Amino acid sequence: MTFNRRATRRQFISNGIVVSGALALGLRGTNLAAEAQTNQPGGPSPIPAAAMGITGPGSLKAHAGAKGLLFGTAVEAQLLSSNVDVAQIVIDQCSILVAENSMKMGPMRPTPTTYSFEGGDALVAFGEAHGIKVRGHNLNWHAQLPRWFNATATRDNARQLLVDHISTVAGHFKGKLHSWDVVNEAVNPPDGRPEGLRNGPWLKLLGPEFIPLAFRTARAADPDVLLTYNDYGIETDSDGDVKKRAAILELVRGMKEDKVPIDAVGIQSHIHVGWSTADSKGLREWMRTLRGLGLKIFVTEMDINDDTWKTNDPAEIDAAVAQTYHDYMDVMVSEPAVAAVLTWGVTDAHTWLAGRRFGPRPHGGGPRPGQVTGQAAGRAAGQAAGQVEVLPPGPPPGQSTQQNRPPERPLLFDANNKPKAAFFTVRDAFDTRTA
Ligand code: XIL
Repeated sequence: MTFNRRATRRQFISNGIVVSGALALGLRGTNLAAEAQTNQPGGPSPIPAAAMGITGPGSLKAHAGAKGLLFGTAVEAQLLSSNVDVAQIVIDQCSILVAENSMKMGPMRPTPTTYSFEGGDALVAFGEAHGIKVRGHNLNWHAQLPRWFNATATRDNARQLLVDHISTVAGHFKGKLHSWDVVNEAVNPPDGRPEGLRNGPWLKLLGPEFIPLAFRTARAADPDVLLTYNDYGIETDSDGDVKKRAAILELVRGMKEDKVPIDAVGIQSHIHVGWSTADSKGLREWMRTLRGLGLKIFVTEMDINDDTWKTNDPAEIDAAVAQTYHDYMDVMVSEPAVAAVLTWGVTDAHTWLAGRRFGPRPHGGGPRPGQVTGQAAGRAAGQAAGQVEVLPPGPPPGQSTQQNRPPERPLLFDANNKPKAAFFTVRDAFDTRTA
């Protein structure tokens, strides 16, 4: 019997049939198929990277690069220096990196007069040592602000605070970065403002002008870096996502008209398992419109939340996540403006979704049993520093949630640093790009 790959992938979701990642990879009947089926945490035989052909010409960066795309991930320099396996994956697979936290204003600004560049500098040094580009994330956001922010920022000094921060930080990294997320998540139509902007701290202090001010200041500090507006909740054709896309389009269109320097839009891509191409017509059109405005598009923070999946079976979850990655990537890489794809984390052991489950609270909940990771530790550190906690967006409306779920499996490598089926479906999707 020959296996129809596409039909098999559809079955992952429509019938809930458990098909191992190896089958999805077309490895059925080979020794690798047998090995890959044991490739679960605690499974008996880890597959050497070379045997899987996932490095060099088999790497994600090679397959992406052949189609004019960068591939990469969010990571912290601290993790790269303390975990050789993760560092090796990054070296093998990535042509671009982004700091998961260390270049945000909270971590970057221990006091109103000091800057902490260590984490960002170390990531840039790692990138230079291994020929990997680095993105900056981010210069302006409503969350992860410094502990001193609320007591210090006023309507009188906020403009100077914003300009000083961006000039100093973008100036420090001048010439060293591929792109900056200049403004992150400034749109939130549910806040009820006519233009759809988020009623966040910077808006309250400065009004909508904080956005063009941030971009102009970034351009003055680093003339060649690509300036990006980055946001989430724009990846489906749900009412909320459609409204948010429209508001972002108005924002960036207005910036273009006013000659505000902006080069790209970042689509965070924190999506849920089961995201479907049937839900992507509006997304495709929107990306086409952005391209028409001369903007590039980056997939900046991709991961797939499995919280809405109907069972706890890891093999089934991995198959469904792999399917969802493929479907999403298929849509994204077929858009010529898409120039880079980054996941938000390297392995399932270090994901911001760790220790989270959706359930009683609308946007995140308590720890998942048995999961304590570096990410959880990082979050604890962030809280200790008095930063605003950031919770993942909740599941799509109408989807059921389950409590007491096992750890999330949202990335391309499992918690034992082994490639998952999703690795291969993403790589396959890169290969289909004709743009
Ligand atoms: C997350 C980090 O992954 C966590 O470690 C931190 O506790 C909170 O922030 N959107 C963004 C990212 O733009 O900066 C967020 O990163 C995830 C959501």
